Amino acid sequence: MQFKTAILAFTLAFTANGLPASTAAAADSTFGVIAIRSGSLVQNAGFQAARSSLFVNLASQNASCEDESNYATFYIEDEELHLYTVSGLTQTVFVDRSGMGMGKVGYVNCTTQLGRNSETKGWAVGYGGNLEFQGIGFQACPGSIDGGWSLWLQGVEKPGFNEGCLGVSTNVLTTDEPIGCDYTT
Ligand SMILES: *[C@@H]1O[C@H](CO)[C@@H](O)[C@H](O)[C@H]1NC(C)=O
Ligand SMILES: *[C@@H]1O[C@H](CO)[C@@H](O)[C@H](O)[C@H]1NC(C)=O
Repeated sequence: MQFKTAILAFTLAFTANGLPASTAAAADSTFGVIAIRSGSLVQNAGFQAARSSLFVNLASQNASCEDESNYATFYIEDEELHLYTVSGLTQTVFVDRSGMGMGKVGYVNCTTQLGRNSETKGWAVGYGGNLEFQGIGFQACPGSIDGGWSLWLQGVEKPGFNEGCLGVSTNVLTTDEPIGCDYTT
């Protein structure tokens, strides 16, 4: 039921102008992302941003939004993935593929706050609308805060020592009417 609601919310948000939502994200367009892993608890779950990390299946991402939204809105500029904010803040997504980082995906308010092993350039929407960092997709790990699943890059079997992670495809859903939010750090 929860997942049907998520799909519905996206469908409403992304086809509000009556046009079908496109899955091909053009440069600078804003988009939401859903996880695809049929038969799993994360199938069609919308990406959320909270506490400097990305999740699915959080009850609430607790962002400060200009309109009601429990999903994150992104855009790609110059191969960097940003959250679409309200306040002029630039919240930038990074990955850490070092031995310590294990494929961590997070975001910062300002790139001066990035760790030494963090990378920000290399995001693109690949074949079939899959969001990728240098060709690498996502995995989702259960048991995170509030029963949510934390999102990591694929490549390490137990990222952050989390067990039971599932590789997911993703689908990018573009929107012409993005809801701006400042996401908690
Ligand atoms: C959102 O806020 C509620 C109420 O304060 C809190 O219980 C919950 O942990 C918060 N969720 C996140 C993802 O920060
Ligand atoms: C990021 O910006 C928000 C909104 O201005 C602020 O509340 C938060 O403390 C900032 N976080 C960091 C880590 O600077």
